[in-house]
Amino acid sequence: MFALAALSLTVLPFVSADTALDLAGIKAHFTQSKIVPDLFESFNPEAVLTVNFPGVGDITPGQTLTQAEAGGYPSIKVTAANSSVDLGSTFTVAMVDASYVGQDDDDVTRHWLMNGCTLSDGTISNSSATSITEYGGPAPPEGEPAHRYVIAVYQQPDSFSAPEGFNQANMGISTFDFEDYLTNSKLGALVGATYMTVQTGEATTSVEATSSVDSQTLSAASQTGSSSSGASATTGASGSSSSGAPDGASALTASSAAVALGFLGFLFA
Ligand SMILES: *[C@@H]1O[C@H](CO)[C@@H](O)[C@H](O)[C@H]1NC(C)=O
Ligand SMILES: *[C@@H]1O[C@H](CO)[C@@H](O)[C@H](O)[C@H]1NC(C)=O
Repeated sequence: MFALAALSLTVLPFVSADTALDLAGIKAHFTQSKIVPDLFESFNPEAVLTVNFPGVGDITPGQTLTQAEAGGYPSIKVTAANSSVDLGSTFTVAMVDASYVGQDDDDVTRHWLMNGCTLSDGTISNSSATSITEYGGPAPPEGEPAHRYVIAVYQQPDSFSAPEGFNQANMGISTFDFEDYLTNSKLGALVGATYMTVQTGEATTSVEATSSVDSQTLSAASQTGSSSSGASATTGASGSSSSGAPDGASALTASSAAVALGFLGFLFA
């Protein structure tokens, strides 16, 4: 369980730009935002993804963006965990709306799906890609808690075969069963993933509490974060998804470390 003391103590010593720590941090983020298990059953990235939005810059995992800020075509830099990781050469990029915390519908809204991507100077290139669904920025329903938009890169082995219905370019944004897609297309390992949260207006529903992970405390959080993974998500009913989108962030996904630490202290003291 989280211990406020442990977090506080580790804030300073563990701040580092080290990729291994960044990876541990993103894993902590995915657990604490409940993307694991709402969207992914497990999450074992081999690389850190650095997503950059025009006019915004590099985002940190879970960063809150406005719809406009996340509207431009993002670039994705891929940094392998270490030199022994073989990422392969062909990739699929996807962005899905994992709705708000606790929503775990199988069907999620697909905002981006590109097959046949390559790496150019460590950055995802679409120069030989097939853009099944062209990048379309977040548009969470008004009044809902912040949605979690997950950007993921998968290895695309030679055995990859686009499933029926997903084999031609220019499909619009719609819902699909992401898990099924991954299985049916025979995509390879997850290279990496990150996410941002976007909300439209004031939330009129509240969500299950999550702890927030500030970028400053990422590696510290990762020391304790995994131990909270057992927390059972009160899974959202698969009910009314007018948007069909899974979304996620809670009002508590505040970005300040003070809020996060205070909240954790309150919860777990
Ligand atoms: C390199 O990173 C991968 C993925 O995180 C990990 O499984 C592996 O143990 C690491 N190898 C070394 C030598 O650190
Ligand atoms: C391909 O990438 C460029 C940026 O490198 C972007 O401007 C363009 O919209 C992308 N094309 C598609 C079809 O996504």
